[in-house]
Amino acid sequence: MIGVALQEGADLDGFRAAVRRLAARKAPPESVSWSAAGESDLFGGGQGEADGAPPVGLPRALGELIRLVVCHSDCERYALLYAAVWRVLNGERALLDVQSDPLVHRLEGMAKSVRRDLHKMHAFVRFRETHDPDGTERFVSWFEPEHFIVEATAGFFVERFRSLFWSILTPKGSLHWDRATLTVGPPAQRSDAPQSDGFEAAWRCYYENVFNPARLNPKAMRQHMPEKYWRNLPEAASIAGLVQQAPARAREMIAREAAEREKRDPLKAVAAMAEQGPRTLEELNRLIAASEPLTPGADRAVLGEGPMEPMVAFVGEQPGDQEEREGRPFIGPAGQLFDRALGEAGIDRSGVYVTNAVKHFKYEPRGKKRLHKRPNPSEVKRYRWWLQRELSFVRPKLVVAMGGTALLGLTGKPLSVLRTRGPIAFDGVPGYATVHPSYLLRLPDEAARREAYDAFRDDLVAVRRLIVANGK
Ligand code: URA
Repeated sequence: MIGVALQEGADLDGFRAAVRRLAARKAPPESVSWSAAGESDLFGGGQGEADGAPPVGLPRALGELIRLVVCHSDCERYALLYAAVWRVLNGERALLDVQSDPLVHRLEGMAKSVRRDLHKMHAFVRFRETHDPDGTERFVSWFEPEHFIVEATAGFFVERFRSLFWSILTPKGSLHWDRATLTVGPPAQRSDAPQSDGFEAAWRCYYENVFNPARLNPKAMRQHMPEKYWRNLPEAASIAGLVQQAPARAREMIAREAAEREKRDPLKAVAAMAEQGPRTLEELNRLIAASEPLTPGADRAVLGEGPMEPMVAFVGEQPGDQEEREGRPFIGPAGQLFDRALGEAGIDRSGVYVTNAVKHFKYEPRGKKRLHKRPNPSEVKRYRWWLQRELSFVRPKLVVAMGGTALLGLTGKPLSVLRTRGPIAFDGVPGYATVHPSYLLRLPDEAARREAYDAFRDDLVAVRRLIVANGK
């Protein structure tokens, strides 16, 4: 039996030199016993030296695999690697392509575990500020890798923190950098590293601010940041709270972002809303309520009101001054006229659903007054998606459009009210078009007003007949 003793940890040079000497002697794997604790061996020290044995030509992929697997903490690593080298040198050049081979499978698994450990160390080393006895500022980190990867990470940390003095302490060895020279030191203990520093609170604050609740996937997070690393991470103290608050924060963010997008581009806003897809009328109403008003100051969205699955839904234009103040549709002067006509037509308002094509009050300030301003077509179209969703949740048997804005909101087309007046269908639902009650209020002479009112009331009578004819 040939005994080979390598340095503790990842002794890549020692392994390479041993492979050259063993290959020169044509020593089969079963004749070699490997140890990695510096015991005496056949070659008697000088492990990095190949004693003039010729180089061994190995495929590049195997060289790469060796570089990783020598870092693995499994004490069989060198024996397994040499078994693979032996087979490659003895006719199986493409051995690594045979993924089903048990040896290849095991070595690939070990390489993967080392790669993962390297990645975790790159990601989770956190420095704390200390001072050397001579007063030099030094950043010290404590990390617990699974494998012998400390030296393999040196290049990464030197590159990142070239201008600082730092030390990384681990139970598998340590690294010290003094802005010019890297020193590899012996294993350390957790108590050798500072547990916190003055910068910690600032770092946690930064972490809490960059934490994105909308992206949170607790399962994936535990996979990427396994809990065993948490105790060395200052931000870990914040994680439980952040995870708990994440759903509520994500909802707020979505509503805020939708409002922002809406400001920038109404069409994109509609697409974003469609993407979000509220699943109930309550969810939809929450979205509407969180959206940007048409006139700053008139912040309250006036939502539809009435029973679900009503015989009829009435759609007006937009809430007026009084509606915005009280948060209910059709309660001002136009609403009073509407109520009167409904009563005379024999329709009970409490049994119908009443809403508006546009949910915010648009106005122009005039002294202390807020004068109604008609919403423009692009504003009406922006609210159209909401209106359609609203009606699909409410499911009225019949929809009545009162005025041109309601018609535009329901059809997407600028139809003339007087020419469309009468039965119509909106997205396949039976409908009826009539004038808006405030049109009646605006008519200048009494006789015309009375005549228009009677025609409006007759429309509502026709609506009642349709309801009755519907039979339910
Ligand atoms: N006009 C409307 O269109 N809707 C109201 O809610 C009030 C006035």
